[in-house]
Amino acid sequence: MLQEADRLLHEGKTIAFVPTMGCFHDGHLALMREGQKHGDALIVSIFVNPAQFGPTEDFQTYPRELNQDIRLAESVGVDVVFAPEANAMYDRGHETYVNLETLPRGLCGLSRPDHFRGVATVVAKLFNIVKPHVALFGKKDYQQLAVIRRLARDLSYDIKVVGVPTVREADGLAMSSRNTYLSKEQRRSALALYESLQLAQELVAQETKDAGKLIEKASRLIVSYPDTKVDYVTLCDPDTLEDVERVDRPSLMALAVWVGRTRLIDNAILTP
Ligand code: PAF
Repeated sequence: MLQEADRLLHEGKTIAFVPTMGCFHDGHLALMREGQKHGDALIVSIFVNPAQFGPTEDFQTYPRELNQDIRLAESVGVDVVFAPEANAMYDRGHETYVNLETLPRGLCGLSRPDHFRGVATVVAKLFNIVKPHVALFGKKDYQQLAVIRRLARDLSYDIKVVGVPTVREADGLAMSSRNTYLSKEQRRSALALYESLQLAQELVAQETKDAGKLIEKASRLIVSYPDTKVDYVTLCDPDTLEDVERVDRPSLMALAVWVGRTRLIDNAILTP
């Protein structure tokens, strides 16, 4: 267990926890500010978790800004920053992983088959190390939030998992550390994600309910932007993440889009 967390618990403090991979933007800071409302003390972890990156993914190049992150965390009043080294989290010979049966299968799991096993494993470890009462995660990673809620229930963690709304740039692009990879032109194309969600919501408001049609229209809009490729666009149940055929109740539209060599995700609940 983390010494500082042990001390806080002994002082009878309620611990709120925001796990991150660093390179903070306003989305992270919103998680921290929300975290402060849920606990007497706020712990933030910064760890670029190798187990959640596939062999051809961006683990090596993922942006790392530790000193700047520590300054930003201090500026919003974080009590403890926990930034372990990779070998402190994964000992030589590590061979225990946390797997969920169905939630990781669709959506991002289709093109990132071991991603959620890496996320679930590191989050379970961080929960054991930090022993928070409340943990906060962004809704931009909707499937991750669903996986972690399930994990906390299934493994009997006495931790309240809180989802925090996505923070967007002025034009609607969801904030992400990976936005730093985008060129100026790609940054324009990245707006395709938000615009397609907006379009789908408008179509639903005009009584288009057929999921296939909505997915097709959203996909067409995305590829009308230069340098974009759809990884997936899906409409599913917000709790089970199972596909829906008609949007006659609130449904999750989730999507992943390649903009050049950067894969971005976003989602929205479409409400008829
Ligand atoms: O969302 C993230 O930044 C990561 O997936 C998390 C939850 C910190 C686990 O590494």
